[in-house]
Order: sequence, then C-alpha cells, then structure tokens
Amino acid sequence: MAENPYRPLKAELLEVIQETPTIKTFVIRPERPIPFAAGQFVQLTVPGIGEAPFTPSSSPSVAEELGISVLRTGRVTDSLHELEPGVTLGVRGPFGKGYPTEKLEGKTVLVVGGGVGLAPLRSLLHHLFENINSYEHVAVRYGARDPSELLYRREFEAWGEKDRVSFDVTVDVPDESWDGKVGVVTTLLEELGLDVENTYVVSCGPLIMLRFVTLACLNLGFRPEQIYLSLNRKMSCGLGKCGRCNIGPYYLCKDGPDMCYEKIKDYKDVFSA
Ligand SMILES: Cc1cc2nc3c(=O)[nH]c(=O)nc-3n(C[C@H](O)[C@H](O)[C@H](O)COP(=O)(O)OP(=O)(O)OC[C@H]3O[C@@H](n4cnc5c(N)ncnc54)[C@H](O)[C@@H]3O)c2cc1C
Ligand code: FES
Repeated sequence: MAENPYRPLKAELLEVIQETPTIKTFVIRPERPIPFAAGQFVQLTVPGIGEAPFTPSSSPSVAEELGISVLRTGRVTDSLHELEPGVTLGVRGPFGKGYPTEKLEGKTVLVVGGGVGLAPLRSLLHHLFENINSYEHVAVRYGARDPSELLYRREFEAWGEKDRVSFDVTVDVPDESWDGKVGVVTTLLEELGLDVENTYVVSCGPLIMLRFVTLACLNLGFRPEQIYLSLNRKMSCGLGKCGRCNIGPYYLCKDGPDMCYEKIKDYKDVFSA
C-alpha cells in the first residue's frame, strides 16, 4: 500500500545552533534518510503545536541528517526555538522541484540572498561548492537588516576564499562593529562585472527584496528566463491539493517553490504574500 504522504517520520533533534538573535539552525536525524535536492522543502512538525514548511540549509549530499535554519516569527517557530536537543519532531517530504542545478551547469550563478533567505540558498551553495568544476563562477551577494542578523557569518571568509567563488555582503543599518558595505542588497548588483549572457540569477528573501532584485536584474540586461525566485508563500498540504499556494496555474509547493520568472511574470500576484 502507498505510504500516507501526510504522515510525518519521527526525527530526533540532534543539535540547536544559535545563528542570530532571531534565527536558529536545527539539526535533525529522521528515522529514515530523506534524500532531497537543493531547494526542495520539508514540513517540520512540533508535536502538539503544528507543522510548517522549511527548506533545509544543509548539504543535499547528506540525507541522514538535515540542518534547517528557522526565523522565529509565530506559533510553530516560537515553539521550535524553545526546544533542546533530544526531543522528537516530525518531518515529511521532500516537496517541490528544487533549484535547476543541471541547467546552471557551465554557467555563472549569481546567488542573491536577503535575511533568512540565505538559508534555502545555503543548500544550493553546498551543491555548487561541492561540484564547483561544473560551474563557471558562483557570485554570492547577501544583505541583512543589521550586522547581528547576518546568517552564517562564521562561513563568509571561507566562501570568499574558494576558487571560482566571489562573495559580497551589505547591511541596511550598520552598528559600531561594522566597517563593511551599507545599503540594500541591490546596491551590490550595481558593480557585478559579470557576463550577463552567461549568467543565471537565483534569489531568495522577502518579497519586496525579490521584486527589487528582479527589477535590478532586468535593468542589467538579464532576460526573465535567466531569473529564478524562491517564493516561500504560506503553504498547507505541500502536495498541490489544497490550493493555498498557486500563482496562475502553478502550485508553488509542486512546481516551485523556486520559479523561473519567465513563467510567472504576467501574473499580478507574484510579489504578494
Ligand atoms: C517552501 C517554504 C520554505 C520555507 N523555508 C524557510 C526556511 O528555511 N527558514 C525559515 O525561517 N522560514 C522558512 N519558510 C517560512 C516558514 O514556513 C514560516 O515562517 C512559518 O510557516 C511560520 O510559522 P509560524 O507558525 O511560526 O508562524 P505563524 O503563526 O503562522 O505566522 C506568524 C507570522 O509569519 C507570517 N508567515 C507565516 N508563514 C509565512 C510564509 N511562508 N512566508 C512569509 N510569512 C509567513 C504570518 O503571516 C504571520 O505574520 C518557508 C516557507 C515556505 C513556504
Ligand atoms: S500547499 Fe496545498 S496546494 Fe500548495
């Protein structure tokens, strides 16, 4: 008999890493490995509270343990943030299509993240870095509201030092500890120096940021088919059944959540919650 797709697997919470004041990474070990592609998401259950969708931020080459970075924002995420290692969670998935990594082969990949939007992109970065010889160049551009909200700051130096990788970061509002760039993430796109024709853009972040990243990229000469956006809207079933997440004929849980802008650009609600 086919397995019930709504029934979660048990997963042990192995480790909790405080990334920023509002974001923690939860490392879980499901009772069975969950193979996933970069950009696919899972539904994580806090028993007695509810479930919510998250895209693993860990390497897709490791199916036995998943890292999931979570911004504290409401009922499920508040409860998650209170948990200590050792408890049992539920997890089902993976869902969605994930990033078009094969299409990106041989190309430059411009990865643009905002705030907690770097979390889903980190699984893509793991994939790109582990297979770097298949890509021309990986350009990572990241922005956060202030220095305390920079996710994975401990890894930035190592990313920037990798062959065929460039990394740049900015904050909207600096503090006394910050001597880096100041401004929204699109300011980093003004000085890219990339061969636009040979580059794909992949972006994840707040909807307002995605809108301005898309506009900036179009102004730089990117065509809509070169732009992929992670649209992490509210979801429920994750299976294309409940109708909570569609843009036109596309269900973001099934056809996305990473969508080629060419497919969705003519729908009015692309950048609405
Ligand atoms: C495919 C997908 C992948 C995601 N990946 C991540 C991830 O890796 N890390 C992460 O921190 N979050 C991620 N999210 C967002 C995460 O699912 C929501 O923050 C979570 O569902 C909120 O649940 P809650 O019960 O804590 O908040 P609720 O009590 O349900 O809501 C609290 C507030 O958050 C808003 N909210 C709820 N869901 C969303 C959403 N999907 N997008 C924007 N605002 C929302 C509500 O409108 C409300 O204002 C992802 C969402 C999707 C659909
Ligand atoms: S979440 Fe139910 S249709 Fe997409």
